[in-house]
Amino acid sequence: MHAWFATYLQWVVLIHLTCAILFVGAAAFEVFVLEGLHQRFDAATMHQLETAVMARVRHYMPIVVILLFLSGFVLFDQYCNGIQCIGDGRHFGWLLLAKVTLAFAVLGVFANAIWSGFRGRMTVCRFRYTHRIVLTLMAGIVFLAKAMFIL
Ligand code: HEM
Repeated sequence: MHAWFATYLQWVVLIHLTCAILFVGAAAFEVFVLEGLHQRFDAATMHQLETAVMARVRHYMPIVVILLFLSGFVLFDQYCNGIQCIGDGRHFGWLLLAKVTLAFAVLGVFANAIWSGFRGRMTVCRFRYTHRIVLTLMAGIVFLAKAMFIL
């Protein structure tokens, strides 16, 4: 591999990691910070707050998610040599595939939440469970992202 290409790939990893931090960070904020506020504020105030948070997320998160997936595909292609790493006798390919499968599950849940928000069908209960599911899946993705190089 040429030195400039290895450098270019590291920039792609940086973009991927930055977007992952923003995406996982937003889900963590909603679960660990926002959910805790339910004990301090009444339902109407919380509804207003959560609607405002969703509006902000809808504003900037789609571009973060697009960059995350685009950079992910570039990395996949390079690390896996197309799809040749899958079933080549190492664990790497299968763990990477599991990571990507979880990433698509997150994408599905996220797209569904954005769509429900647009149509005004996002209830407080659904808001809460969506974020818990997304955060759990993301914890699995981050674990696999590192475990695939170790196991
Ligand atoms: C919710 C979506 C995703 C999250 C949160 C995520 C998160 C991460 C994280 C934290 C790393 C470790 C980066 C590092 O420290 O080096 C990583 C690496 C990687 N990701 Fe993702 N990722 C996501 C989606 C994807 C997708 C859709 C693909 C492929 C189609 C992908 C392919 C890769 C590859 C090949 C690496 C290895 C790069 C490296 O660490 O050098 N990721 N991902």
